[in-house]
Amino acid sequence: MKITAIAPANIAFIKYWGKRDAALRLPANASFSMNLSESYTTTTVDFSDQYREDEVIFLDDTITGSERKRITSHLDRIRDIAKISTRAKVVTKNSFPKGTGVASSASGFAALTVAASNAAGLSLSERELTILARIGSGSACRSIPDGFVVWDKGISSDSSTAHSIARPDYWDLRDVLCIVDTSMKKITTSEGHESVESSPLWKSRLESVDVRMSRILEAFEKKDFNRFGETLEEDSDSMHTVMQTQTPPLYYWRETTVMVMKAVRQWRVDGLAVYYTIDAGPNVHVLCESHSENLVKKKLSELTGIERIISNAPAKGAHIVTDHLF
Ligand code: DP6
Repeated sequence: MKITAIAPANIAFIKYWGKRDAALRLPANASFSMNLSESYTTTTVDFSDQYREDEVIFLDDTITGSERKRITSHLDRIRDIAKISTRAKVVTKNSFPKGTGVASSASGFAALTVAASNAAGLSLSERELTILARIGSGSACRSIPDGFVVWDKGISSDSSTAHSIARPDYWDLRDVLCIVDTSMKKITTSEGHESVESSPLWKSRLESVDVRMSRILEAFEKKDFNRFGETLEEDSDSMHTVMQTQTPPLYYWRETTVMVMKAVRQWRVDGLAVYYTIDAGPNVHVLCESHSENLVKKKLSELTGIERIISNAPAKGAHIVTDHLF
């Protein structure tokens, strides 16, 4: 059966960095994110006897051998559950153009999980889909439920699941994403997670992250944007100081990254409620409420060095669509 799914990328306000179990991708801490409206992956999967082996095609992009292996291993997991041995054709494309540096593993594995499990004849619950997506790529589990999502640390694979805490229309936030560099990362996030313990600051991040989680959830409930923003910015800084002090060090920031961070801080001093967060790359996600979106975009467009600005609203999670890619 041929099934197509769309899944959004997500931006974490409290980050997932470090695992308790690498194979199962059990996180060292709980995390919290928002699905992004303009950054998503579409994937069509067809299981059929006509395919002698799995065929994986990225439209508008090339695929490395290790990426292909990660995808076919995920298909194997789904075949095991569905008790089938049929090979599949997978065709996938991202809404964000090639090389924009937007992480595609979250949206990619979420879309693959929903499309492939349904195409294999399974009808998994949302909870089960989050477990399966998590084993593909940790952050992918947060792209399954709608809107604003918490991924619980859990005590086992079955309890480390993601769930929505609010629908996309709960709070009209904007993630104004500044693309500052489109080159590929040299070290994958999976490799980065593995050496997290080499940072002397890792322990102190773990000791403080749960406090930030409680604080941000409280601010989210009250829609207290300043407290919300202060906390997400602090968590991003915390993750990057760990990354930068790991061996080998992961220094994702470019000159333009630092310039945007400084500008955001200055605009705050000038009275504009705006905060930044950064994932495993040089691009800066600038968070504001929708009433400030145009002003924030204008101010960002006056800075030099930003290649592109993509403004994202909160979005629903992974879902099936009827238009196929092949
Ligand atoms: C920095 O989900 O890409 O974006 O589980 O190894 O696939 P794997 O890692 P991945 O890690 C993403 C980490 C992050 C922070 C976050 O999204 O929470």
